[in-house]
Amino acid sequence: MSFDRSIKIAPSILSADFANFGQEIQAIEAQGADWVHVDVMDGHFVPNLTFGPPAVKAFRPHVKTFMDVHLMIAPVDPYIEAYAEAGADMITAHIEAGPHIHRTIQAIKAQGVKAGVALNPATPAEAVEYLLDMVDMVLVMTVNPGFGGQKFIHSGVEKVHKVRQMIGDREIHIQVDGGVDVNTAPLVAAAGADSLVAGSAVFKGGSVHAPEVYGDNIRAIRAAANAAL
Ligand code: DX5
Ligand code: ZN
Repeated sequence: MSFDRSIKIAPSILSADFANFGQEIQAIEAQGADWVHVDVMDGHFVPNLTFGPPAVKAFRPHVKTFMDVHLMIAPVDPYIEAYAEAGADMITAHIEAGPHIHRTIQAIKAQGVKAGVALNPATPAEAVEYLLDMVDMVLVMTVNPGFGGQKFIHSGVEKVHKVRQMIGDREIHIQVDGGVDVNTAPLVAAAGADSLVAGSAVFKGGSVHAPEVYGDNIRAIRAAANAAL
């Protein structure tokens, strides 16, 4: 996939119908999703449990765009190979999930997939400074990870701006995750984010039987973000 800074909408399937992932993924892609964001939680690093590698492997054939796997697990290194083999196009790990994020990023790159580094709301932008020559994405969390539907934490906007300045000319995506909707998307887009994760704001009001609602939601978030650029 060639790099660009255009706005990409990445619906989080954490807000999909858990009995129907294949059709949900097909529906959001048909309705304009650019990436599919998969939230992996371990009940340890975050207080919730979601998808093991076999689940991600089952999603893979349905994803025609780009499968962006957000690991909220600790430890992370022992599971990188399994999530890569499950078909992740990008694996994002949290800087707070272990003592050796540099080694973790090396391990992700060694699998031949793209690598992202995620920052919790309390972690400063400067924490990624010495990783910028090895990552493909910086994920700025705008909620505390663990659940969909939480309130956007506004200090993330300034953090996105700082990360954008630090990145300079490097081909690194900036992703924002948590509480992204038509009101907050313009703030993070103006600050420099190009990949917008949205769970509840994409899936609200829709279903595989009313997929056009997903399309309306995706278009509204994209339009709000683009209007701020
Ligand atoms: C939070 C997850 C998010 C979440 C976003 O732990 O990483 O991807 O699903 O959900 P919304 O968009 O509803 O805040
Ligand atoms: Zn996420």
